[in-house]
Amino acid sequence: MKPPLRVGVAGLGTVGAGTLQLLERQADLLAARAGRRIVVTAVSARERRRDRGVDLSAVRWYEDAAALAADPEVDVVVELIGGADGIARAVVETALARNKHVVTANKALMARHGTGLARAAEAAGVTLAFEASVAGGIPVIKTLREGLAGNRLSRLYGILNGTSNYILTTMRDSGREFGEVLAEAQKLGYAEADPSFDIDGVDAAHKLAILASAAFGRPVDIDGVYTEGIRHVSRLDIVFADELGYRIKLLGIARLTEHGLEQRVHPCMVSKAAPIATVDGVFNAVVAEGDFVGQVVLQGRGAGAFPTASAVAADLVDIAAGRSVPPFGVPAAELQPLDGAPMDRHQGAYYIRLMVVDQPGVIADVSAALRDQQVSLESMIQRGRAPGEAVPVVLTTHATVEAAMQRALAAIGRLGTVLEPPRMIRIEDF
Ligand code: HSE
Repeated sequence: MKPPLRVGVAGLGTVGAGTLQLLERQADLLAARAGRRIVVTAVSARERRRDRGVDLSAVRWYEDAAALAADPEVDVVVELIGGADGIARAVVETALARNKHVVTANKALMARHGTGLARAAEAAGVTLAFEASVAGGIPVIKTLREGLAGNRLSRLYGILNGTSNYILTTMRDSGREFGEVLAEAQKLGYAEADPSFDIDGVDAAHKLAILASAAFGRPVDIDGVYTEGIRHVSRLDIVFADELGYRIKLLGIARLTEHGLEQRVHPCMVSKAAPIATVDGVFNAVVAEGDFVGQVVLQGRGAGAFPTASAVAADLVDIAAGRSVPPFGVPAAELQPLDGAPMDRHQGAYYIRLMVVDQPGVIADVSAALRDQQVSLESMIQRGRAPGEAVPVVLTTHATVEAAMQRALAAIGRLGTVLEPPRMIRIEDF
């Protein structure tokens, strides 16, 4: 057997501890699959005394993770610190500069600096692997980059943030409002204390930008991702969605259009019959559509110590076995910049919910605003009867252009009889 692959792990939080446990418990299995043993020789973490469930007495400890990355007795640096810049970036850049392979779970880093890091890895002749950065334990990067290499992909979409999916699922199941369910998610440890990355779509946008690059062979373009979160989704919207035959999901969607590559993250109405509509709770799912394969659906745990460790381990086995492909499927120099399709040219159907004063003429004014922008209505629901008070009115439209929809919504929002800002959710045709 070849000499062991020597691994340095930077960051021993939840995922770091899970990775150490997996590498210990599955050591023989991994060795059989890789053709050599995978051994942790160095670690770096702020807190030394915490129990990580494995014996670390024989490994070298570093206070400074960048020093670990420079350790000549480490072949692969596993970066599990997180954050687009700062120490995580320094660790990865140091490792690549010293011709060491890198495995990272860091979606923010890959979304912001992925193309440059891929170039650096290729120049150094080492692997940059990041399966754990998107959708936890689901092997989505490998599937897109290698498993579907024989296809041109037209569209890719997924539930990429487990916390938002948990919140939307629980709102639906319990009939409670967003704020209350978010507080519960924080108590359960799903959402961060500052949950904005999860609920404002930022985390999903990072992951989508990485997937789009692997799927479409273009440089990572996080700034080209249109991003909206779930703060404005209310219990009422979930009830109306159900009545209309939809579920509301926060999705990341990338697709090729005549205007370029569209990348967007926002709440979507999806038919209850679509595979992705039944992916609930903290689970993630990714759907890819290829010209030869058709539709591929991947589903699983998108976060957590062991699922994420599973992805890290798979990358380590590839490195140990000497299997290497360019990080985004084609050499970084050959990633083709594609124009980003602007959101105002997006075309699709829309759900609109208004809170209006229950009095004659309101619907006529709303319809006129839609007519003025050539937006065609598909259905309308008005519930209740409360003369002079606010009642919800729900409209769905036929496919229309986003810019026209936005102009119509602005005009509707200016009507004196419309009491709250109109709520709009895009309807997807899955
Ligand atoms: N905060 C992420 C989520 C964790 O909720 O899915 C994994 O990236």
